[in-house]
Amino acid sequence: MSSAKIFPVSKVTTHVLQEMKLKNEKIAMLTAYDYSMARIIDQAGIDVILVGDSASNVMAGNTTTLPITLDQMIYHATSVTKAVDRALVVVDMPFGTYQGNSKEALHSAIRIMKESGANTIKMEGGKEILESVNRILSAGIPIMGHLGLTPQSIHKFGTYVVRAKKEEEAEKLVEDAHLLEKAGCYAIVLEKIPADLAKRVAKEVSIPIIGIGAGSDVDGQVLVIHDMLGITQDFSPRFLRRYHNLKEEITGSVQSYIEDVKSVHFPNEREQY
Ligand code: KIV
Repeated sequence: MSSAKIFPVSKVTTHVLQEMKLKNEKIAMLTAYDYSMARIIDQAGIDVILVGDSASNVMAGNTTTLPITLDQMIYHATSVTKAVDRALVVVDMPFGTYQGNSKEALHSAIRIMKESGANTIKMEGGKEILESVNRILSAGIPIMGHLGLTPQSIHKFGTYVVRAKKEEEAEKLVEDAHLLEKAGCYAIVLEKIPADLAKRVAKEVSIPIIGIGAGSDVDGQVLVIHDMLGITQDFSPRFLRRYHNLKEEITGSVQSYIEDVKSVHFPNEREQY
């Protein structure tokens, strides 16, 4: 089979995402943390690849996203950018690298952009991080915001339940979305909030809104690749659609290999020199 690319290479930029919103064309986004997976999903035609700090969970086995470091995020992001020709590559700013000090935030963002070759960064929060957002944007680094369930604040929330069900939190979220838009962010992820609220935000702001557990009336969707492929199975929120059961397939393949090795059916005569 030829290794020629199925899709013509025409790089997705933040401007392309804006045009997609205007044309009502949905944006498809997935996470990736390594070269091989990023190569597959870029060649499959994904619009945006997020090097998410969910790498802390699915790659490193931590129970939260908090432990992952800037160096580790840069390592994952560098592997991904080497693989990608078409998709926009977004990298999460890890916990502790931007919340308290806007100079440190800019330094962290510059390291990600310079060392990994990523196209943009993503940051969790609204008003509380506005000073960092403004400083990073002033350096010409595009920012994707992230509101609603922001996993870096899990110890404040205490649980991964749906956010912004109460009016006060919902109004703050809408206000934060407007603030991020006004500051100059090019898109916002809304995670695990009521679909009606996400619909309202997508209507009120002019930048693309990407949902995860935020219903279908937004400008695009994002999922964690390990969850949607069924590699991870201990996590089944309502919003997660599994497109495959890779855990079962990998288990079957590994068991066949073990059997073949033990019974000396592998390697055969054609598989040796
Ligand atoms: O880190 C991540 O994978 C994310 C997505 C869930 C949006 O932030």
